[in-house]
Amino acid sequence: MSLPVVAVFAALTACLFCGPPPCAAGRNEQLNYRPIIGVLAQENLPGDQSPHGSSYIAASYVKYLESAGARVVPIRINLTEEEYTKIFFSINGLLLPGGDVDIETSQFTRAAKIFYSLALKANDAGDYFPLWGTCQGFQQLSVITANKNLLTLTDTKAVTLPLTFTPAAKSSRLFQSFPKDLMQSLADENITSNFHMWSLSTQNYSRNAKLKKFYKVLSTNTDGKKEFISTMEAYRYPFYAVQWHPEKSPFEWINKSGMNHSTSAVRASFYTARFFVTEAMKNHHSFPSPVEEDQALIYNFCPVRKGIGAIFVQIYYFD
Ligand SMILES: *[C@@H]1O[C@H](CO)[C@@H](O)[C@H](O)[C@H]1NC(C)=O
Ligand SMILES: *[C@@H]1O[C@H](CO)[C@@H](O)[C@H](O)[C@H]1NC(C)=O
Ligand SMILES: *[C@@H]1O[C@H](CO)[C@@H](O)[C@H](O)[C@H]1NC(C)=O
Ligand SMILES: *[C@@H]1O[C@H](CO)[C@@H](O)[C@H](O)[C@H]1NC(C)=O
Ligand SMILES: *[C@@H]1O[C@H](CO)[C@@H](O)[C@H](O)[C@H]1NC(C)=O
Repeated sequence: MSLPVVAVFAALTACLFCGPPPCAAGRNEQLNYRPIIGVLAQENLPGDQSPHGSSYIAASYVKYLESAGARVVPIRINLTEEEYTKIFFSINGLLLPGGDVDIETSQFTRAAKIFYSLALKANDAGDYFPLWGTCQGFQQLSVITANKNLLTLTDTKAVTLPLTFTPAAKSSRLFQSFPKDLMQSLADENITSNFHMWSLSTQNYSRNAKLKKFYKVLSTNTDGKKEFISTMEAYRYPFYAVQWHPEKSPFEWINKSGMNHSTSAVRASFYTARFFVTEAMKNHHSFPSPVEEDQALIYNFCPVRKGIGAIFVQIYYFD
């Protein structure tokens, strides 16, 4: 996509005033009040006894983004690079959800890599395009950036934790506009949902030059033995990653430790979602026509109700 000269000029002048990176366009531009965020599907969970398709998106990620003022486009796995490129230039941001696929060999990974590389190129050219990774999405971003799987096993399968903020958190793009009392709740109360076996340890992050250069650590946690990174944002790109699950507090109801539905947990969810949607509002990609936009939106699909005790309440399936 070639940018008009005016946009490039705006991006360059914006850079003179925007202080810390990222310096990509968007800061002083008009916002897009009809943001559309892509959510990437993935191969079914191995334990899914009643699938209605061969890939899925948990409905909670859709509701999470919708609750903060975005519309959602599901992105299927197994598409061609050309198809992904077309979608990329139609949407305003991408969310990589949690899940349980092989983050080196899956179709989810293949698609994530294509979008990551398109997002790098776009942002470098002043076309602000945000990425968000949750849990598996966090892990996937770390593997793509490092070009290596540096994850390690931790005892964090179903536990709520308070965030241990780094000094960088307060002035981070992600957290800087969170209310003070909410930051206090996040730091003091066990409200972030952790449902993961794998983590990026602070040790491996620190020893990997690529990761260290790319991401700023905003919070850490520990399983009692290993310290791992729980929130990070890229220095020079609008890329964000949380190892915890902000979408679960308002939208998932499995009765397990690791879940919390308190006021502060639900507020934290909303503020993270609203932050990302606001990032997507700085992007101006659009579908080639209103009809194509309409056909791509999640409203064309019906989520399937999962049974009592399932980890997800509702799932969108795709073939
Ligand atoms: C994706 O392609 C693989 C083969 O490469 C196939 O096994 C799988 O069923 C496909 N999944 C979807 C959702 O199309
Ligand atoms: C560091 O990464 C390697 C994989 O490259 C992994 O085997 C190891 O467990 C990790 N160590 C820690 C402490 O994270
Ligand atoms: C609360 O968080 C602490 C770590 O700060 C952890 O040790 C503890 O297990 C957590 N409690 C619950 C109920 O998850
Ligand atoms: C949740 O699970 C606990 C036991 O693990 C049980 O005592 C409680 O009744 C359950 N609550 C609901 C609403 O199912
Ligand atoms: C959820 O977190 C709140 C703190 O905000 C705590 O008081 C409450 O006990 C937690 N509930 C559960 C079920 O862990």
